[in-house]
Amino acid sequence: MPSSEDLFKQIIAHAKEYGYIFPSSEIYDGLSAVYDYGQYGVELKNNIKQYWWRAMVQYHENIVGIDSAIFMHPTIWKASGHVDAFNDPLIDNKDSKKRYRADVLIEDFIQKLEEKIEKEIEKAKKKFENFDEEFFCKTNPNILRNKEKIDSVNNRFAALMNETDLAGIKSLIEELEIACPVSGTKNWTDVRQFNLMFATQMGSVAEGADTIYLRPETAQGIFVNFLNVYKTGRMKIPFGIAQIGKAFRNEIVARQFIFRMREFEQMEMQFFVRPGEEIKWFEYWKTERKKWHLSLGISENDYRFHDHDKLAHYANAATDIEFRFPFGFKELEGIHSRTDFDLSQHEQYSGKKLRYFDPETNESYVPFVIETSIGVDRMFLAVLSHAYTEESLPDGSTRVVLKIPAQIAPIKAAVLPLVKKDGLPEKAREIVEILKPKMMCQYDEKDAIGRRYRRQDAIGTPYCITVDNQTLEDDTVTIRERDSMLQKRVVIGEILRELC
Ligand code: GAP
Repeated sequence: MPSSEDLFKQIIAHAKEYGYIFPSSEIYDGLSAVYDYGQYGVELKNNIKQYWWRAMVQYHENIVGIDSAIFMHPTIWKASGHVDAFNDPLIDNKDSKKRYRADVLIEDFIQKLEEKIEKEIEKAKKKFENFDEEFFCKTNPNILRNKEKIDSVNNRFAALMNETDLAGIKSLIEELEIACPVSGTKNWTDVRQFNLMFATQMGSVAEGADTIYLRPETAQGIFVNFLNVYKTGRMKIPFGIAQIGKAFRNEIVARQFIFRMREFEQMEMQFFVRPGEEIKWFEYWKTERKKWHLSLGISENDYRFHDHDKLAHYANAATDIEFRFPFGFKELEGIHSRTDFDLSQHEQYSGKKLRYFDPETNESYVPFVIETSIGVDRMFLAVLSHAYTEESLPDGSTRVVLKIPAQIAPIKAAVLPLVKKDGLPEKAREIVEILKPKMMCQYDEKDAIGRRYRRQDAIGTPYCITVDNQTLEDDTVTIRERDSMLQKRVVIGEILRELC
């Protein structure tokens, strides 16, 4: 078993080798934390977006979608709080000259303690029959000590972040004896705030032109269109507005591949509800979003909720859906009860009323909002890292297979003539023509059939359809299923029914 670090490296290398993800501007030595999606990557990404859009917009009569511009009026970002408060605390190591997010250094420290606990449990599981995990955790002194430490660091850290106490954060880093992973020293600068928004100028000359921002989230495009959609769509509360689009953040520490990027995509939905009913809907969306994740067939054990102890000033409930990435459990999606903060702020800054008239209560009010927000790229990484499998086969060989859920696999089927003669390629081409209107499929006649199966396994194609001499006699083909590698014979006219 490779270490999780090696496994992650293998996944990144595989993603590049098989046309999923390339470093941006690679021939110019790349651009930090920016990536391009290759020929299979773009298919998987589009399928993820479509899978989300269907679940949110197509399946909910009371949710509609929009596509707002990336450039927006700069006052929007003042109203939303991003100009003043969309900051990360950064700290530099004076010896290595490396820059870090101070909060991430502390989170990594906590994660290491969590990993120690997990290791202790794993060791005990192997050692004892009839292992009682709950009892073990309550009685093992190492686990108790580490849990106590985690709670105490978490509480202090939350309080310091809440008060934006930068000196306190530095003291905590020193007290925990956190060292720079590069220089190994604890020679830190003070902690400073760093705004994550990218600014640019609108207009042909920079002089006198307005500073505008590349949006750091898609959500504000929804809030400022609340009235337009509510009026033109004749929406009735509760209702939602969904959007998929690019967002940009000048991340200080951009690492872990596509987990934290400077240019990324979000799939966000703002659900407008009656004030006072927001917690009911918050719970509803927690359940709905978890169901969406599990519908892809990924194990429930790879997900967990992490409720926020420290709430943003505008939220009255918040949780993260965390996923077990190769580098541990990390945030994949956020679900936030944002109260009436955003609409009220935009009312104040724009001077326009952003209210809903409720015909049931005869009242006008600023709706409360539940937000679901997931990064497309993080979801992509979750799917890819879960799918990546190295298998030893009974004949002693190994295969690398991407077990991507069939609903979102880039290529659904490959059509392979067993040999490149005797009319088999022509027959295979006929099958491709049947499948093409319904799914992405690929024709491949190069190399021995075994090598072609491996190639399709490596890109995650769920079905390989092989055309052989028997096909010419009785119009049947074999369909090989990627994960089980089992094959069955099917009449050509039945292929679509088998695959869909
Ligand atoms: N509108 C709320 C919002 O933007 P967030 O927690 O900052 O909330 C939501 O971001 C989601 O966007 C995250 O859960 C994550 O999936 C994704 N995301 C945030 N920053 C990202 C980054 N730098 N790179 C990739 N995905 C990111």
